[in-house]
Amino acid sequence: MLALRLIERKRDGGRIDAGEFRALANAYATGHVPDYQMAAFLMACFLKGLDGDETFALTEAMLRSGETLDLSHLGKPRIDKHSTGGVGDKVSIVLAPLISSLGVVVPMMLGRGLGHTGGTLDKLESIPGFETALTLVQARSQLEQLGCALIAQTDEIAPADRKMYALRDATGTVESIPLIAASIMSKKLAEGLSGLVLDVKRGSGAFLPDLERELELASTMIDIGAEHGCPVVALLTAMDRPLGRACGNALEIEESIAALRGEGPSDLMSVTYALGAEMLVLAEMAEDHDAARRMMEIAIGTGRAAEHFQKIIESQGGNPAVVDDPALLPQAAEVELFAATRRGFIARVEPRAVGRGVSALGGGRTTMEDKLDLSVGFVITARPGDWVEQGEPLATIFAHDRAGVEAGRNALRAAISIADEADPPLPLVSHRVTSAGVELLVGT
Ligand code: URA
Repeated sequence: MLALRLIERKRDGGRIDAGEFRALANAYATGHVPDYQMAAFLMACFLKGLDGDETFALTEAMLRSGETLDLSHLGKPRIDKHSTGGVGDKVSIVLAPLISSLGVVVPMMLGRGLGHTGGTLDKLESIPGFETALTLVQARSQLEQLGCALIAQTDEIAPADRKMYALRDATGTVESIPLIAASIMSKKLAEGLSGLVLDVKRGSGAFLPDLERELELASTMIDIGAEHGCPVVALLTAMDRPLGRACGNALEIEESIAALRGEGPSDLMSVTYALGAEMLVLAEMAEDHDAARRMMEIAIGTGRAAEHFQKIIESQGGNPAVVDDPALLPQAAEVELFAATRRGFIARVEPRAVGRGVSALGGGRTTMEDKLDLSVGFVITARPGDWVEQGEPLATIFAHDRAGVEAGRNALRAAISIADEADPPLPLVSHRVTSAGVELLVGT
């Protein structure tokens, strides 16, 4: 009865109060509200919107539907970074070991890939043996020992969000600012953080392709964090082309390992250093961004960050030897170059088409039940603005079989366009948003 009343009220433009959100989230998490009613409620919220108080109440309701990690006894800063989702976005895999190797506690809860975006959880599972389904007790113990745990959202943490997010993905209700903000923040606040850095993607490959809406999403999450005493800093970063070169699960682990060894592509390193500097400054481990960057460069240059990644992998049951020998990661049966069909400038490398291409190869999900081929994907060396000659290699396709190579070829044909002119791509890091407002870092 409660669910029906709330669906009708939201459908008609009414408000839901904090107690009602709490009752609904708990009833849904415990199986007392069916998916069809929650789907209708979410669609009503999507269409009619939620005001600031409602967004805060929904976050709180999802957060309180499960347990929370209390890490205050560690006496150390606890900082996480979260991305709104992109293609080739492996920054978390680099940042978690890098920043925790510098003494910051990084409790990182990760998601699976859905839609055109990849998921860090799937990528990590391409490391043989790596286990992400840690209990909160296991996560707490690893955080005490290594300062980092890379964990899946289990039923213990924000279970209402876990079910609602899967439902939203299947009912066209993902792209709503209050629903995204409440979903992300309920999980992040359950980690018991002292600060959070958000990577809000912008451009054609982002969930919300328009800049105004990205800024609104960032401010909404910053306001929710402030209400909980958790300072949040957001950087807006480019997702009008994939980040780095590798797109696909094991391929992205290999590129992340290269980054931890100081051999990452420059765009990946710029975004990693920008977000990492915010984490270290929020943690009060560095005075400013320049000092933070020097700390990260030293951790990478001395091998400390890569060694720390090995310890995390080992602690989570994975084979740490992959860091020295990435050939131990799943390998694709078919590997083939993709070449330019004409000369000209690379005008676009469209992330959505690349992400869908990874799925077509078997490396991404179209439903939650899909089983992934973790070895497949692309390494795309062509960048927007590059001049290329006809026949020049633009990318490598990694596929399961010949049909996969053909699917990969079709995807890259749709994704990469070559023209006589190319507009400049978006700046890699364009805006910094804090509770004080929006700072423009470069021309947009
Ligand atoms: N990531 C989340 O965790 N939730 C959303 O709603 C969107 C992206």
